[in-house]
Amino acid sequence: MTGEPVIELEGVWKIHGPNVEAAMADTRAGASKSDILERHGAVVGIADASFAVLRGEVFCIMGLSGSGKSTLLRHVNRLVEPTAGSVRVLGQDVLALEAAALRRLRAERVGMVFQHMALLPHRSVRDNVAYPLEIRGAPLARRWAVAAEKLRLVGLAGYEERFPHELSGGMQQRVGLARALASDPEVLLMDEPFSSLDPLIRRDLQDQFLALSRQLGKTTLFVTHDMDEAIRIGSRIAIMKDGRIVQVGTPAEIVTRPVNDYVRSFVQGIARDRLVAELERHP
Ligand SMILES: Nc1ncnc2c1ncn2[C@@H]1O[C@H](COP(=O)(O)OP(=O)(O)O)[C@@H](O)[C@H]1O
Ligand SMILES: [Mg+2]
Repeated sequence: MTGEPVIELEGVWKIHGPNVEAAMADTRAGASKSDILERHGAVVGIADASFAVLRGEVFCIMGLSGSGKSTLLRHVNRLVEPTAGSVRVLGQDVLALEAAALRRLRAERVGMVFQHMALLPHRSVRDNVAYPLEIRGAPLARRWAVAAEKLRLVGLAGYEERFPHELSGGMQQRVGLARALASDPEVLLMDEPFSSLDPLIRRDLQDQFLALSRQLGKTTLFVTHDMDEAIRIGSRIAIMKDGRIVQVGTPAEIVTRPVNDYVRSFVQGIARDRLVAELERHP
């Protein structure tokens, strides 16, 4: 794979609770997450995670609930402070940024989309999308123009005057995505953005997102607990278990050469015909 790294995590640890040094040492020596909790009263959130996301890539983080996906993603814009390790984003050492520079990174360069986008209920769809620009004091004409453009990108042209409660869950998530795109960030962080939606709608949004992603080429870190989704969306996938990254690879590599039974268990759940279709999509 070519392209320069845009997000780089190196040796990142996040331990919650006491006895951090002992917890790290024992984890390095092979102790499990439950051992560490029992011995030290500490929760291993992330254990020695390293990966790089290249420009334009959609890099998925996949794993069971509680495996550390959100914690890992939130290191990228420093919503989580690591216990150890380094985090570089867009050429900057995120852990060295001062408050103002960190605010700028979050507001202008790294957009974020969550499972339940908290739209502002008393504001129109347009004003929700334009909200990041409003905070920065952009003039009204510009806010309206940007909102219209981003709503068109997510397939919601014409919904400007509506209010969030008038929209379906899938449409609300698309408004959230449009809002994340309003500042034209170079990086997108997406934490299970489609997980609360019905399977059919989810498939629809995955397809739309793929098309949009190809069009915009934004470097994306995409968290999901759904292997199907990771295979559909990811250029590469990191599989997590108990805070560790157990395998990183293209969908084809993960499916054809799972490193252990944990990874194999996800791959087995994928319907055969789908698998063939996806492998053709990412040869
Ligand atoms: N603030 C915290 N204090 C203690 N434990 C936490 C905290 N935040 C997350 N954890 C723990 O870290 C682990 C990973 O959580 P999370 O990143 O939310 O997983 P995922 O997103 O994969 O479901 C879980 O065991 C969770 O209980
Ligand atoms: Mg999570």
